Amino acid sequence: MLVSSIFLLVISIPARAAPVEPRSLVFMISDGFGQTSEALARAYMQLMDAHWTSPLDPHLVGSTRTKSTSLVTDSAAGATAFACTQKTYNGAIAVDANGRPCVTIMEAAHRKGYLTGLVTTARITHATPAAFAAHVADRDMEDLIAEQLVNSSAVDLLMGGGRCHFVPHDQEGSCRNDSTNLLTSKYNMQSNLNITGLPTMALFANNHMSYEIDRTDQPSLSEMTRSALSALAQTNRAFFVMIEGARIDMAGHDNDPATHLHEILEYWRTVEVVKKFVDQNPHTLLVSTSDHETGGLTLGIDPEYIWHPGFLAKVTRSAETICQKLKRHQEDDMEDSVGEAIKKHLGIHDASESEIDGIVKAVKDAKVCKRAVGNVVSRRAHIGWSTGGHTGADVGLYAYGRESSRFHGSMENTEVGRELANYLSLDLSKLTINMPVVSKRTMFAHTYIDHN
Ligand SMILES: *[C@@H]1O[C@H](CO)[C@@H](O)[C@H](O)[C@H]1NC(C)=O
Ligand SMILES: *[C@@H]1O[C@H](CO)[C@@H](O)[C@H](O)[C@H]1NC(C)=O
Ligand SMILES: *[C@@H]1O[C@H](CO)[C@@H](O)[C@H](O)[C@H]1NC(C)=O
Ligand SMILES: [Zn+2]
Repeated sequence: MLVSSIFLLVISIPARAAPVEPRSLVFMISDGFGQTSEALARAYMQLMDAHWTSPLDPHLVGSTRTKSTSLVTDSAAGATAFACTQKTYNGAIAVDANGRPCVTIMEAAHRKGYLTGLVTTARITHATPAAFAAHVADRDMEDLIAEQLVNSSAVDLLMGGGRCHFVPHDQEGSCRNDSTNLLTSKYNMQSNLNITGLPTMALFANNHMSYEIDRTDQPSLSEMTRSALSALAQTNRAFFVMIEGARIDMAGHDNDPATHLHEILEYWRTVEVVKKFVDQNPHTLLVSTSDHETGGLTLGIDPEYIWHPGFLAKVTRSAETICQKLKRHQEDDMEDSVGEAIKKHLGIHDASESEIDGIVKAVKDAKVCKRAVGNVVSRRAHIGWSTGGHTGADVGLYAYGRESSRFHGSMENTEVGRELANYLSLDLSKLTINMPVVSKRTMFAHTYIDHN
């Protein structure tokens, strides 16, 4: 694949013409979060308060249709639909269905003088954030994405994980294939929340950030968001920031309901932070939606008309962490280790032989193991999953603040992107990006294996 020579011409120097009137935009993406995910987390909270509603509930204005050029999208095509207002093939990062790089609303906003930001709990080079400011044929080209993010300077504030793609391969903690050192760019590199001066890159983990349920020393999504909004607002310039609850999706892939739940609760806390900001800065619009549903989540399985959110309260670790720990244990003691883990981390004290066995058999393969652990909790809670991948379901669309009435009814993901562009007075069709066509990878189009 022709990649190295393609990206010499990055977006032209921004004309720093201030927007006509200050208006800011916070676009939130809850990756892999369907309406059933909202219902799951709401029911969990209602165990404590029967009348509880989520911070999103009052702002539901419609739904987003999620398909890409495939009826079931991935996060790369899903984010490109918002960012470029075009449908493309799964795996594409801000290139159209013919592999032509497309100008994104973030790049257009930057050219128009807005400050820009990307905040995520995934690697900053992962599909969703990447599609707002990089252009590659295939989401797996994360080394190149990192280089493009740094070179284009279209983003003033980058926050999340994925430090390993900025570190040369001979240094500790690198996952790059080459000796390029991207830590020496014009960005301030930070690893704390005290943002001093832009442009800044604040990367808190080598890989994805911790799941909320496992989190110890890293900042949460709501903490990053508070810090990002305050750094952007301090400049007195209008801004556009994309904030992603990235790992709601990953927990869905693992069919791990408690981890999915805690990612959602943290996303909601983040929504609260943004709503407060909008209340104090009424020139700001908040839009929240998802790129797609993940897991085919079902509340209630045969034969009963009930499900039991209480089982989720007892879980204290993600299936991912449980499986990583189990893998380090002796194989001949595995039954005991699994029994202990189920007690300690899933809060189940009467595990059946088949529940233990299901995990013991799966320990060797991380992916199978995570689903086996998730399955034990799901079955007890009467939660079903129809897939370890994505589904073609519509997802909720939420809007709050200035001109939120732009968003209503059943909208294509591309229409959502177009309204975001209209709100910022950006005309993407008038802008060009000076990059050659990239050859598209075809293998990926219809499989989710190892992809989110
Ligand atoms: C990024 O910029 C450096 C220095 O100008 C250049 O050597 C490199 O090829 C650029 N990379 C990309 C992907 O544009
Ligand atoms: C790194 O190099 C290996 C071996 O050449 C290759 O298989 C892999 O795809 C490369 N990874 C990236 C991110 O370029
Ligand atoms: C943040 O950084 C500034 C400048 O370096 C410093 O004066 C301030 O004390 C720091 N605040 C915190 C909470 O660390
Ligand atoms: Zn996914």
